[in-house]
Amino acid sequence: MKYRKIALAVSLLGLASAAYADNHTLSRNMASACASCHGTNGNSVGGNDPLAGMPKDEMIRKVKDFRSGAKPATVMHQLSKGYTDQQIEMIANFYAAQK
Ligand code: HEC
Repeated sequence: MKYRKIALAVSLLGLASAAYADNHTLSRNMASACASCHGTNGNSVGGNDPLAGMPKDEMIRKVKDFRSGAKPATVMHQLSKGYTDQQIEMIANFYAAQK
């Protein structure tokens, strides 16, 4: 019985880390949709604003302001409408962690 509990704990741990890895991959994949304009991992080389290292809260606020129209934009207002709050948060997490 005791071993079964340990086995259960170990498999739960495995599940948790798999979920984390999935989340990270998902965030990175979603964030790659921004790379064509904002550069690989948000390190912009063209004229566009870099996203790498932008604090999470700032990114969330800006993208939501684009979505609501509060922040003027040429393309971001359209683009930002394609993401749910949760997806924006995941993308913001990803970019906040980039250098
Ligand atoms: C087609 C090109 C393009 C893509 C793709 C794109 N952006 Fe943008 N982004 C822009 C442009 C251009 C601006 C300047 C505002 C405007 O004119 O829309 C901008 C501005 C921003 C800003 C404001 C930067 C600042 O410091 O004020 C944020 C935040 C942002 N984009 C996030 C994103 C995220 C997150 C994605 C991916 C989900 C993304 N962008 C994808 C072109 C793009």
